[in-house]
Amino acid sequence: MRRGILLQIAGLLAEAAAQAGPVPAQGLHALAVKAGLQFFGTATDTNNFNDTAYMDVVNNKNEFGILTPENSQKWEPTEPRQGAFVFTNPDQVRSLAVKNTQQFRCHTLTWFEQLPQFVQTTQWTRETLTAAIRAHITNVVTHYRGQCYSWDVVNEAINDNGTFRESVFFRTLGTDYIPISFDAAARADPQAKLYYNDFSLEFNSNKTDTAVRIVKLVQDAKLRIDGVGFQAHMVVGQTPPRATLVQALSRFTALGLEVALTELDVRQPELPASSRALEQQSADYASMVAACLNVAKCVGVVVWQFTDKYSWVPSTFPGTGEACLFDQNFVKRPAYTAVAKVLSDAASVGRARVVAPNGPGLPAGGGAGGGALGGGVAAGGGNSKAPFGTGNSTEIGNGIAGGRARPSQGATGTGAQPGAPRPTSSGRPVTSGGSTSGGTMVTRLIVLSFALSCIVVV
Ligand SMILES: *[C@@H]1O[C@H](CO)[C@@H](O)[C@H](O)[C@H]1NC(C)=O
Ligand SMILES: *[C@@H]1O[C@H](CO)[C@@H](O)[C@H](O)[C@H]1NC(C)=O
Ligand SMILES: *[C@@H]1O[C@H](CO)[C@@H](O)[C@H](O)[C@H]1NC(C)=O
Ligand SMILES: *[C@@H]1O[C@H](CO)[C@@H](O)[C@H](O)[C@H]1NC(C)=O
Repeated sequence: MRRGILLQIAGLLAEAAAQAGPVPAQGLHALAVKAGLQFFGTATDTNNFNDTAYMDVVNNKNEFGILTPENSQKWEPTEPRQGAFVFTNPDQVRSLAVKNTQQFRCHTLTWFEQLPQFVQTTQWTRETLTAAIRAHITNVVTHYRGQCYSWDVVNEAINDNGTFRESVFFRTLGTDYIPISFDAAARADPQAKLYYNDFSLEFNSNKTDTAVRIVKLVQDAKLRIDGVGFQAHMVVGQTPPRATLVQALSRFTALGLEVALTELDVRQPELPASSRALEQQSADYASMVAACLNVAKCVGVVVWQFTDKYSWVPSTFPGTGEACLFDQNFVKRPAYTAVAKVLSDAASVGRARVVAPNGPGLPAGGGAGGGALGGGVAAGGGNSKAPFGTGNSTEIGNGIAGGRARPSQGATGTGAQPGAPRPTSSGRPVTSGGSTSGGTMVTRLIVLSFALSCIVVV
């Protein structure tokens, strides 16, 4: 009897040890689904499709369960001349997703950049611009009707200081272009989730306040808006505290919407990254994903390319890079393992309780601009090497996002517009209760079964 129980304990221990080993090579989407998310995905586009090493990763549904066209579905490529629609490239992205049984996240409709010439140069009246927006959205959304998980209907309508961006749309129509866009999209596809999508909403700043206003604007017009996309273009050492991001995401779920991280990348401010910077990047990625996990209606995460080989970052923010989960040779970064681990931890301890450990921070004066960094160590005074922005770490309060410009312009883009980032100020995530991450459930199982067995033996 006793011998049998001991054998049983030994068996349980062996099993537990096996489970507590390295994160299983399941792929991020497979792990995300087990953690309770709907998807983990990537941006991609047809200019990558002749790269077989790349395609081996994209075609792995266990890795990426949803695809977003990085560029080809924007206004300029889909309606280069007024009334002339071209869907060849985005159709190929859609077909790939269909072939791989991946979801398709559609991007984007009303946005101030990557616009065709005619939108930028026509002398619009309220009536003619309204008609042009409606025609564009109706044609594009109808073409993909029933095939998009979601549409980014309006993209980047807000300046970093929280005022409305002076786009051609805003100049002509004020904020009316926003409900007009949502109305047209809802009529063209009753199923696709309709999103407002922007960067630098992550710090719960004035910009986030204005995004809340946008949601209410659409809701007050009795129109449908289903989600807000947090682009999450981040800088290593300058991601928001997890609790801040949870708070920012929750402001939208409180309005009945879902949220998602839609364009995640975390770029290194200095190259090549030190091992300490790699460690901080891992913590930053994990913290961002953990924040999504902590919010019940955060449906998933999409990275803005998974490999540095095709990342928009180096050309947009010169001197920075190494922002992706895989390097340019498709070798997984430590950040990949950190994301896989936080997803697998969430599957065992529950997504609401999962936390991510702080990173080591970056050395004071390092390129991150001196924001308060991991481990609660405020670097302070990191002013000289910031790639953009003021590098002024003294400002406390609503951090404004680490500089980000528009994603996705590709080679034909009109050039970077790095914002005027200021470092985030308030230190690293304050872990709000909950357990530590990592194999907790397995440990409990061992302790519990051991205790039970001992009782039986006695
Ligand atoms: C893919 O095609 C592009 C041109 O469309 C070319 O520049 C690139 O070298 C090709 N890449 C591979 C891996 O064949
Ligand atoms: C936020 O807006 C308030 C009022 O408009 C302004 O006083 C404050 O400076 C803004 N904060 C930032 C960080 O832009
Ligand atoms: C907000 O930012 C925009 C764009 O940078 C700028 O044009 C505007 O003057 C700013 N407004 C305030 C009140 O700071
Ligand atoms: C940093 O910001 C603070 C508050 O806005 C300002 O008083 C100070 O002069 C700035 N320092 C530098 C070096 O720009």
